Amino acid sequence: MSVDPVLNRIDSSLPESLDRLMELLRIPSISTDPAYKAECDRAADWLVEDLTSLGAAASKRQTPGHPMVIGHIDGPGPHLLFYGHYDVQPVDPLNLWDNDPFDPQIEDTPKGKVIRGRGSADDKGQLMTFVEACRAWKAEHGSLPCRITFFFEGEEESGSPSLIPFLKENADELKSDVALICDTGLFDSRVPAITTMLRGLLQEEITITGPSRDLHSGMYGGAAMNPIRVLSRIIAALHDDSGKITVPGFYEGVPELPDDVIQQWEGLGFDHKAFLGDVGLADLAGEAGRSALEMLWSRPTCEVNGIGGGYQGEGFKTVLPSTASAKISFRLVGQQDPHAIRESLRAMINDMVPNDCKVEFKAHGASPASVMPIDNPVFEKARQALSDEWPDEAAFIGCGGSIPVAGYFQTLLGTESMLIGFGKDDDQIHSPNEKYDIESFHKGTRSWARILAALTK
Ligand code: BES
Ligand code: ZN
Repeated sequence: MSVDPVLNRIDSSLPESLDRLMELLRIPSISTDPAYKAECDRAADWLVEDLTSLGAAASKRQTPGHPMVIGHIDGPGPHLLFYGHYDVQPVDPLNLWDNDPFDPQIEDTPKGKVIRGRGSADDKGQLMTFVEACRAWKAEHGSLPCRITFFFEGEEESGSPSLIPFLKENADELKSDVALICDTGLFDSRVPAITTMLRGLLQEEITITGPSRDLHSGMYGGAAMNPIRVLSRIIAALHDDSGKITVPGFYEGVPELPDDVIQQWEGLGFDHKAFLGDVGLADLAGEAGRSALEMLWSRPTCEVNGIGGGYQGEGFKTVLPSTASAKISFRLVGQQDPHAIRESLRAMINDMVPNDCKVEFKAHGASPASVMPIDNPVFEKARQALSDEWPDEAAFIGCGGSIPVAGYFQTLLGTESMLIGFGKDDDQIHSPNEKYDIESFHKGTRSWARILAALTK
């Protein structure tokens, strides 16, 4: 089965492919907000119907949270598992969007046409590149070149609470020769990429409570302990002056990069001035003595993602608040153990809380880092296929973000993952005005057609 007519069909049916993506984007499937539960369900139904339309045996699988979608198309070996997520991030602050986040529009920009809307790049646009490649293949040849299982999750953006039990219960159905995950980016607009390392993620929420109610800060201030002061001291203590993280034992299991990887990354010519310049910054803020790509891809981090306490409204209120809280996350690498780090963090914080305050911890996600086995021949085949589609050769890159499913495929199914995606740094994922380049969508779809051909030759 030749790929050329499939590529031609992808080109000629681009408008219909985009129409289908727009339909999916109109469904506000925000997984973290219970108010959108029915919409998550609707997105799952939409995908079941769409997969069915291309000949897959597809169904929605209930979980305690949002449903999963699974579809099978039979074919000769190998058996490929394709993963994407249909849930999206919340849209706030809504006033910073130029348009309704769930009324996607195709827009002309100085850098080319884009489709703008929540989920366009993360991850609905990306998952549809694979679906559309399969559709074109099927339409052209009557069947697919290999056996494919589609697996779509609706809780990726909210920590995947149902994923581990679901994978355990459905391992036999999902086990395959290799998993393809489309939820990452290009290296840049000329250089496609296979992501070979993902950071893990540990999320912890802490709440400090001091006085039994909010107090007048003149009447009590000075004598009463302020929980914001306690919280600030804790947060300030998490990094030392060289940018290292101070949680005891934190660096256990953090490897140094092998020389060949250091050299390969240096060869990518990453321009950190431009990368930071695009978001109004200039200076690297990570550990002293590390390159920008190390800071982003291979070093662990600690970030405060949110902080609250006291009066946040207009004007000013002289209050000494009863509580203060923060959401803190750590990106992990190598063999760092999220559970051990959570315990160590809690012990460190407990030691810093004065007598008059108490601290409560709320555990959120905890997933380890993962590294892909690029000596598996599928990586070189896919790299070739990508290089045929894009102006420059494909690169093996790291990724600062986290996609816990990749690690679970490895440990729970024994299936290795290959991460290929077409997002760009300026897609504004998780932010207002998220977009996906039409070029990402179009060449992404073409890339998958080529990869299917390459993996089944
Ligand atoms: N698609 C992203 C992961 C990603 C981010 C890939 C940046 C490439 C570049 C994914 O949907 C995501 O945002 N993951 C979360 C993890 C989750 C456990 C909340 C993340 O990385 O914060
Ligand atoms: Zn994503």
